[in-house]
Amino acid sequence: MLPPPPTGIGLGLRSAFMAEIDAGAADGLVAFLELSPENYLWRGGAAVDQLGRICERFPLIGHGVAMNLGGVDPLDPRFFGELRRFLDRHPTPWYSDHLCFCNRGGELHDLLPLPFTTRTATRTAARIREAQERLERPMLVENVSYYLALGESEHDEPDFIVEVIERADCGLLLDVNNAYVNAQNHGFDPLEWLARIPLERVRQLHVAGHEPWDDATLVDTHGAAVRDEVYDLMAWVVERIGPVPVLLERDNNIPPLADLLAEVKALDAVYQGALARWRASEGQEVAGG
Ligand SMILES: [Fe+2]
Repeated sequence: MLPPPPTGIGLGLRSAFMAEIDAGAADGLVAFLELSPENYLWRGGAAVDQLGRICERFPLIGHGVAMNLGGVDPLDPRFFGELRRFLDRHPTPWYSDHLCFCNRGGELHDLLPLPFTTRTATRTAARIREAQERLERPMLVENVSYYLALGESEHDEPDFIVEVIERADCGLLLDVNNAYVNAQNHGFDPLEWLARIPLERVRQLHVAGHEPWDDATLVDTHGAAVRDEVYDLMAWVVERIGPVPVLLERDNNIPPLADLLAEVKALDAVYQGALARWRASEGQEVAGG
């Protein structure tokens, strides 16, 4: 049986602070941990033992980078078999990966955007359905940041995302930092973008930091503190959908764990405020019949 989804602010598990987490430094301070199983597949030893202990202290969410859902190479049965065995040992309410391609006859080491076409959406949705069947778990897909549109698009990004998740009948992991970075780089309003996303499909949020590359370009580095504009987008969504797991991603320039826990606390204050507004609006709707 799959565990219930956690709600509140979680933290991405990184090797830089696993020992501290294992020693209890985050107990009671984060709602869940998100981990990338690819770091543990086909491995044993101390790191896997440590992960087993950590899993007993926190709810887990599995989030991968290697599934190549938007690619054209067949899904790798060996990878799916090992991932399935990992998820059986470390239960999570769903599994997520990115709306991208990352492999073409070999690992490309990046999350590359897809052409926004019906043909790509149809193929990607079929692969998401296959992934769900192979894992026997629900899948979420995450919107990615992109710096150039690939190929000739028939749709814009929101239409493409909607077409994929409706055809796949899957959930959306909504990364509001990616939406913000794309909005700045491609010149659209992130709130207008969000308003076109079917929020009933959103099961989880990501927030992260970004940094300027030059005067015209922001880069989704996951290497800085979350900016106020991204807090605001997170709150905009939470006050419309209610309790949800929100993940603080930090993959580069990782500060001391205490700093990340302080950021989790700051995010939680904004999250709780948004949740209070959601509860008030729900109450008004109930009172109004
Ligand atoms: Fe993300």
